[in-house]
Amino acid sequence: MSKKKKKKIKLKKKNIIIFLICLFLIIFIPIKTINLISKSISNHKVKLKEQEQAKKKHNNGINKNISYYNKNYLSRYLKYKKENKNLSDEQIIKNVNMNLDLKQYEDTIKAKNLNTEKVLVNKYYYLEEDYVPDNLEEINKQYALNGMKLVDVAKEAFEDMAKDAKKEDLTIVAMSSYRSYDYQVDLYNRYAKKDGTEAADTYSGRPGHSEHQTGLAVDVYNEEKDYTNFEKTDEYEWMIKHAHEYGFILRFPKDKEKETGYHFESWHYRYVGQEIAKYIKEHNISFEEYYATKIKDW
Ligand code: DAL
Ligand code: ZN
Repeated sequence: MSKKKKKKIKLKKKNIIIFLICLFLIIFIPIKTINLISKSISNHKVKLKEQEQAKKKHNNGINKNISYYNKNYLSRYLKYKKENKNLSDEQIIKNVNMNLDLKQYEDTIKAKNLNTEKVLVNKYYYLEEDYVPDNLEEINKQYALNGMKLVDVAKEAFEDMAKDAKKEDLTIVAMSSYRSYDYQVDLYNRYAKKDGTEAADTYSGRPGHSEHQTGLAVDVYNEEKDYTNFEKTDEYEWMIKHAHEYGFILRFPKDKEKETGYHFESWHYRYVGQEIAKYIKEHNISFEEYYATKIKDW
């Protein structure tokens, strides 16, 4: 081979190598760059997550962004969370707002929103002995036993409801409505004597803790006059469908015994106004849950 030819081949080889190097760089550099960028993005995300967790820890381990979080209850939330590790922050906050961390009938609070449809009376919230609601009026005897009283707005709504039920041949009768503190003393004592306090507490409010004293609660039956079997009547079915349209809720539903503190009562209805009644029905919640998450009265 001539020297010239040899040189030409060498040059060709050199060009191929240069070309291959360039090709390698063109492919490798962008891939590497993309890798580096995505790595740094994911590192950044991990860092942000760690920061968020640290911040949460700093916030004492409870999510303060929940709409019904109450800063005054922070220590109660944390204590309850320690004892109920399986619950979400939403549940922790809701349960504490409902006072489920307190002792029924021991850690009691004076009822708020007196003389409004928002008043909550239960085993934590009480009415004083001398509390008598404003504007009590007697329910029309067509729809009630003699002398049954409710607060005027509740009375009007009850009469409208019973009247509309009557149009469908259904008979709704108020057989217990407003009850004074003293009346409840006698009633509760009678039950406690008969069944013992533990059993009585599952179906009767202690004096000051019965919402019958608000003048916004009513017990009903139909013409069979047996409130304990009201659940089996067409009137009950109708009430479940329509009571909220008149502002009433079934106050002690079957699956809400933990929240309300009482066994299911098919006969006991509470006037809360149409807006609240509609919300409670649509969301399948108790009045206690509504109070703890929507009224937030602290
Ligand atoms: N029966 C209901 C719980 C009351 O006594 O108020
Ligand atoms: Zn009742």
